[in-house]
Amino acid sequence: MDLGLAGRNYLVTGASSGVGLATTAMLLAEGARVAACARDLDRLRTRVSALPGASERAVTVAADVRDAGQVERFVAEAVAGFGGLDGVVNNAGRSLLARWSDTDDQQWHDELELKLFGVLRPVRAALPWLRKSDAAAVVNVNAILARQPEARLAATSAARAALLNLSATLAAELAGDGIRVNSVCLGLIDTGQWRRRHDELAPDRDYPEWAAELAADRGVAMGRLGRAEEVAYPIVALLSPRASYVTGATVDVGGGVGRYV
Ligand SMILES: NC(=O)c1ccc[n+]([C@@H]2O[C@H](COP(=O)([O-])OP(=O)(O)OC[C@H]3O[C@@H](n4cnc5c(N)ncnc54)[C@H](OP(=O)(O)O)[C@@H]3O)[C@@H](O)[C@H]2O)c1
Repeated sequence: MDLGLAGRNYLVTGASSGVGLATTAMLLAEGARVAACARDLDRLRTRVSALPGASERAVTVAADVRDAGQVERFVAEAVAGFGGLDGVVNNAGRSLLARWSDTDDQQWHDELELKLFGVLRPVRAALPWLRKSDAAAVVNVNAILARQPEARLAATSAARAALLNLSATLAAELAGDGIRVNSVCLGLIDTGQWRRRHDELAPDRDYPEWAAELAADRGVAMGRLGRAEEVAYPIVALLSPRASYVTGATVDVGGGVGRYV
């Protein structure tokens, strides 16, 4: 099926690794143009330039999504290169492994800067261009713990819940402008995030064995971590003009993890 993405223009934040890189690869494979950002420009350029189609249809920009000025420059460079925008994938992020009692005020602020303002600002900066698109879509990459908090990720869970709430507001408010807003909530996905956690917590353990135990411990029905490509597909499907009546929706990509109904 043709997803209707060829020739369209998308922003992807946090595009140098994991889900953001896989989404960028899939959009390029569908013939779309992608403006990709991350903080470490060398890594971003190296990873994105290796993707098929990148030399003709990708732009890489150093931007920290917590910084309003950098986000505005990112959007301006994308629009200068492409002439318009059809969508935004708000993916940049990481988790803060800390219980409520171990989280100080600065860490709470940092989590909200990243997970709430790091989405709000790219959407705000892209808005004039999204309004001009005939198939505008925003996808917010979120986590299942937005609805199912984990005690060991207290601030991350609360910030994710705030983002889920904001996504519903944006979907309602921007529907009149023809802009769809949806969320993809992740369970445990095998990316840089978990590789880093393994290196910190259990550097001597065999990674596949450690990851399988993690999946069992967290009650993942499918018994394994997901792959970044398995998240990229629902993101790209939600961006597609073919999903024209889907807004305010939340798609879980967690291999069956989840204790809520
Ligand atoms: N993997 C999971 O199990 C899981 C579960 C739930 C939710 N998530 C969420 O899903 C998203 C993707 O995760 P992932 O596992 O693919 O992570 P990842 O492999 O660690 O990649 C994170 C990406 O975000 C970028 N980034 C981080 N902070 C940024 C900032 N302030 N501004 C701009 N870019 C930033 C990183 O590049 P730089 O460091 O160079 O900036 C990198 O490109 C994140 O929001 C994550 O929290 C992941």
